[in-house]
Amino acid sequence: MSSIPSTEEIDEEKERAHFKAVVNAFKYYKLCSLDRIHKSEKMISMLPPTHQNRLDKYKTLLTTFKKCLDVNNSIVHLIIKDVDTMFENVDLGADANTNGMESFGCNYNNCELTSQKQHKMQHDVDKVQSVLKNIVRDWSDAGAAEREQCYQPILDRIEKLFPVVDYIDRSDIKILVPGAGLGRLAWEIAARGFSCQGNEFSLFMLFASNFILNKCLKANQYTVYPWVHQYVNHLKGEDQARAATFPDVPPSAKETHFSMAAGDFLKVYIEENEWDCVASCFFIDCAPNVIEFIERIYAILRPGAYWINLGPLLYHYSDMPTEMSIEPPYDILLDIIRDVGFEILSERSGVKTKYAQNPASMMQHEYSSVFFVCRKPLAS
Ligand SMILES: C[S@@+](CC[C@H](N)C(=O)[O-])C[C@H]1O[C@@H](n2cnc3c(N)ncnc32)[C@H](O)[C@@H]1O
Repeated sequence: MSSIPSTEEIDEEKERAHFKAVVNAFKYYKLCSLDRIHKSEKMISMLPPTHQNRLDKYKTLLTTFKKCLDVNNSIVHLIIKDVDTMFENVDLGADANTNGMESFGCNYNNCELTSQKQHKMQHDVDKVQSVLKNIVRDWSDAGAAEREQCYQPILDRIEKLFPVVDYIDRSDIKILVPGAGLGRLAWEIAARGFSCQGNEFSLFMLFASNFILNKCLKANQYTVYPWVHQYVNHLKGEDQARAATFPDVPPSAKETHFSMAAGDFLKVYIEENEWDCVASCFFIDCAPNVIEFIERIYAILRPGAYWINLGPLLYHYSDMPTEMSIEPPYDILLDIIRDVGFEILSERSGVKTKYAQNPASMMQHEYSSVFFVCRKPLAS
C-alpha cells in the first residue's frame, strides 16, 4: 500500500529535482551554446555563394567561438564536479555524479533534445552563461572597474563606521551580505578583518562560488570566454572571443572569518539582534515584497547596528504576470525604511553602476543607483 507523501517529503523531492535540473543545465551548457553557432553556420550556408565568400572571415571566427566554448565547458564541468557533496542535507539521488542525462533519455554528446525540452533547457543554460559573466564581475581583473563602482562605496563606509581601534577585535564584528552572488563583496569585507557571512539562494551562483572560494588556489589559474554568447554589438571579431582569467586574487590567500550560507534570506535569518551590519548590493529589488526584506534586516540587526545598501530598483518580479511584485519608487521606499524604525544617516542617488557588462560592447547598461546608510536606533 503506498502512503501519501508529507508536505516535507514533497518539498524535499522538489528540491532534489531542482538541484538535478541545475546540474543538468551546466552539463548541457556546451550542447545548447553550440546550437547557436550551428544556427549561424546554417544560415550562412543558405546564402548565395558570393555572400558566403564575403563571410569567410566570419566563418573562421565561428570556428574560434567553438574553441572558446570548449574552454568554458571545462570550467563549467569543474564547477559541478563535486556539488553532490556540497550541502550536507541534500541527497542528489542515483545520478548525482553521472552525466545526469537520464531524465532526457539520451547521451550527452550525440542526442537531439526535443524542442520543448530544449527551450526549457536553454532558459537554464542562459543562467549558466550569466554565471560566467558574474565570474568576471567578481573575480577577474576585467571586473575591477565594476567592483570599484559597486563594492568600494560599501567597503569605504564599513571602514568609516568600524575604524581600526586597539580595543576592538574586528573579527568580533559580524557583517552579513544577503544576495551575495559569487561572494566577492563578502570576501572583501572578511579580508578587512571582520567576520562576514554571504548568503545566497541560487544554486547556479552557489555552485560557482563554491568552486571559486574553495578550489581556485592560484591567481589567474583559469580562463573563461564570457562574451562568446553575445552575438551583437561587437566592434571587432576578437571582442566576442575575448578571454578573462580568474581569480584575480586566490580567495584562500588570506586567513579570514568568512562563510557562505545557502538558502532564502527570509528563511535563514530569523534570529533577532544578531548582526552588527548588513551590507546589501544589488539585492533589495530581488524581493517580491521589499517591505519584508526591510523589516527582516531591521529585526536581525542589533540596536545601534547599520544597514548599508547600494543598487537600483529593478524589481525582479515586476514583469512576471503570475508572481507577486510590489514596486515602490525610491522616495516611498525611504518613507517605508523610516517607518520601519531606521534612522537614515546618509543617502544619495545617481550612483553610476554597471552589472556584469562587457566593457568592449557597443551597448552599455548603466544604473543610476541609490546608496544609503541607516541605523537601527539604540532604543527602539
Ligand atoms: C543581482 S544579484 C547581485 C549579486 C551580488 N550582490 C553582486 O552585486 O554582484 C542578486 C543576488 O541575490 C540572490 N537572491 C535573490 N533573492 C534572494 C533571497 N531571497 N535569498 C538569498 N539570495 C537571494 C540572487 O540569487 C542573486 O545572486
